[in-house]
Amino acid sequence: MLSSIKARVIAFYMVVLFLTLSALGVFLYFSLHKIVYNSIDSGLLSRAKALATLVTENDNETEFKFSDDVMWEYNSPKSKSFFQIRRFDGTTLEKSASLRDSELPFQAGKDQTSFKTIFLNGEPTRLINFYVPEDNRHGNKEKTSAVKNKGHGLVIQCAEDIEDRIDLIQSYSIVLSLSIVFIMIISASGSFLIAKKALTPIKEISETIDRISESNLSERVTEKSIPSELKGLAASFNRTFDSLENAFNRQKQFAADASHELRTPLSVIISQGEIALRKERNAGDYKDALTAIVEAARMMSEIVQKLLTIARLGTDKFELKMEDINIGDIVHESVKLLRPLAEQRDIAINISAAETFTFHGDHAALLELFTNLIDNAIKYNIPQGKIDISIRKERDFIETEIRDTGIGISEGDLDRVFDRFYRVDKARSKENGGVGLGLSICNEIVMLHGGRIEIKSKVGEGTNITVYLKGNKDVTQA
Ligand SMILES: Nc1ncnc2c1ncn2[C@@H]1O[C@H](COP(=O)(O)OP(=O)(O)OP(=O)(O)O)[C@@H](O)[C@H]1O
Ligand SMILES: [Mg+2]
Repeated sequence: MLSSIKARVIAFYMVVLFLTLSALGVFLYFSLHKIVYNSIDSGLLSRAKALATLVTENDNETEFKFSDDVMWEYNSPKSKSFFQIRRFDGTTLEKSASLRDSELPFQAGKDQTSFKTIFLNGEPTRLINFYVPEDNRHGNKEKTSAVKNKGHGLVIQCAEDIEDRIDLIQSYSIVLSLSIVFIMIISASGSFLIAKKALTPIKEISETIDRISESNLSERVTEKSIPSELKGLAASFNRTFDSLENAFNRQKQFAADASHELRTPLSVIISQGEIALRKERNAGDYKDALTAIVEAARMMSEIVQKLLTIARLGTDKFELKMEDINIGDIVHESVKLLRPLAEQRDIAINISAAETFTFHGDHAALLELFTNLIDNAIKYNIPQGKIDISIRKERDFIETEIRDTGIGISEGDLDRVFDRFYRVDKARSKENGGVGLGLSICNEIVMLHGGRIEIKSKVGEGTNITVYLKGNKDVTQA
């Protein structure tokens, strides 16, 4: 039950409240108890003192000068006030009519004034034993010590029925307990409502999150109506859903683009095949059809291969096989692979590196990176154009710059060339066999190596692409 925040808050609050109210209740109860008993005791003490002044002793004769004024409250048998005058040894000298046959309890041998609660005829009664030594009383100063030693001092016992006062204290404690219970009930309901209200926004957030599904990724938690403490939580949920939605949309777009790209060569294969099969044809026609089919199949194979590379790079399980690599060597290797294409277009490639730079990275991935970039520099170059590749080190980064004298990219397209399947000039790309995946693969590879790519271009002048690979301790400058 205590697994909910609401229950925990209420339980904690109720325990604290109960302890506080109980402590207050106990304090109030004992305070009243003390006040009532102090007032009873001081009344009894005054009465005992008053009676003491009315008792005189001469030559072992005890005289009581009790007037009716004093005695009226003790004389009635129904009265609830009592007194009994005894010697120190317990011998009774006088007692009130209200006591009838009863006696006030007495214990000889004590000479200290004391109070106690007793039961007289079953009724709770407060009793004072007021000790009056012989020497304290008027007219007997000369006999003092002798009489006292013989036990001739007086004990004035005054008592009073306190049932009504005890009833008062009991009623008070009942009212107090009921008040505590009442306050607890009111507070429990109050804290339940407060906790419920305070937790409503969390419930709303959670309901919104429940509603957000694959088909409804665009819904967001409304931050306006949410209390300031939860705004941060709502904002971070919204941010998470923003990036989820973006990723999901990109993924959907990617799948749609991929199918679209594959459809073109597939329809070429199907239509060429169907046309060839429709009737008997000569060898030349079959050869043409087969050439178109092989071309389309090659295109498909390239797309599928690139898609596989992207899928491989994007999985969590993809691990780079890290080793020390000479960046110059990798660039030379890429140029060697692309040399036939460059020669075909009469494009000169020049590589310059002041030193040898060794980088800790994945050989296959870095070869793919530079091959793609140099391939673009050749494909989008003008005939007899030039490509300059320079490798240098600036601060922590090994910078590899590939500069071409090609057609360039307009400013509006520059931001998008890293998007999957994005091609500036679709017709031209197609003519070159471009799929539009090369740069996004490059970007992925560089990011996996903790680096970045920058692109600068001017239409008609050429393009500069620089790859920054972070050196740090993994980079050694040979
Ligand atoms: N050096 C460059 N000069 C001019 N345009 C370029 C250059 N590099 C890239 N582009 C433009 O950016 C687009 C995206 O390049 P990317 O390498 O991603 O795809 P692609 O070359 O068309 O196909 P792929 O590399 O997948 O075979 C290209 O289609 C081209 O329009
Ligand atoms: Mg390319």
